Amino acid sequence: MSELENLRRAALAGIGKLDSLRGVEEFRVRYFGRKGEVTRLLRSLGQLPPGERPAFGQKVNELRQELEEELAAAARAIRQRELAARLASEEIDVTLPGRRNRLGHHLHPITRTLYDLCDIFRGMGFVAVDGPEVESDYYNFEALNIAADHPARDMHDTFYLKPGLLLRTHTSSVQARTMERCSSVHSGLRIISAGKVYRCDYDATHTPMFHQLEGLLIDRGISLADLKGTLIEALQRIFEPSVEIRFRPSFFPFTEPSVEVDVSCVNCRRGGCSLCKGSGWLEILGAGMVHPRVLSTGGYDPGTVSGFAFGMGVERMAMIRYRINDLRLFYENDLRFISQF
Ligand code: PHE
Repeated sequence: MSELENLRRAALAGIGKLDSLRGVEEFRVRYFGRKGEVTRLLRSLGQLPPGERPAFGQKVNELRQELEEELAAAARAIRQRELAARLASEEIDVTLPGRRNRLGHHLHPITRTLYDLCDIFRGMGFVAVDGPEVESDYYNFEALNIAADHPARDMHDTFYLKPGLLLRTHTSSVQARTMERCSSVHSGLRIISAGKVYRCDYDATHTPMFHQLEGLLIDRGISLADLKGTLIEALQRIFEPSVEIRFRPSFFPFTEPSVEVDVSCVNCRRGGCSLCKGSGWLEILGAGMVHPRVLSTGGYDPGTVSGFAFGMGVERMAMIRYRINDLRLFYENDLRFISQF
């Protein structure tokens, strides 16, 4: 009986020290396994005098039951602790602020400038038309009186996709397309066309892709004075009424006469600065009276109607308008830059 009590004390103390499920299993084997301490006691029952057996057997059974209950309780407590530790380590703090998705809001300065330009010309009765960026040699060059040996057709400037097919180098291709489509229906034309154009050119002030806005007006009795009046009005609106405008003689195969148009530098007001490279003037567009050969290729009678056309670089307009001296800023999409507009 005293051996029994010693065993009980030792076992209960052992259970009190258990701290892992593995330890619980080892304890179970040690006391209740085939060679376990409690098992051994039960086996020794046969060696006792028959009179002592029932009382001793009952005691051993009580001990076994007590130890099994204690052991089960210890195992439960260990599982609880392990679960609590795991929950603590995997805790998610749902009160932390979430990651914000930025929403687009303002128009890109190129788009803004393009929209404003289109608004101005639409207000003058011009209708916006579209044309493809992948263009045929015919509409980009031939129909615009650009001979096969003209430098503009050189591989150096043009991205050719295959012979006869290219990325348009200017929006003037839409002039040729629209004339061809409309000359049998309308005696006159008043269109603008805006979009991407491509040239094999890349440095601080040139990117292989940029935007142009093209204009074409055909009617009876149109003269260079109409071209000047239209452009002066539009440019004073897009910049400021006080801007000075200068027309210089120039050359384009599809216009005759041809002009290039400068505006007084918005930065220095003709004093000379880095934006205008000291000249006081900024070149912003090419224009001219539509060449008679282009008119007749497009299906119009140059003896009856005449017209003017112009093409401007939208990036150039935006740079002047917002006084930006690095073209690359437009394409890097740095939010610190973009969100200023
Ligand atoms: N297409 C010419 C260019 O890209 C601009 C232009 C358009 C000139 C219309 C005259 C008339 O440089």
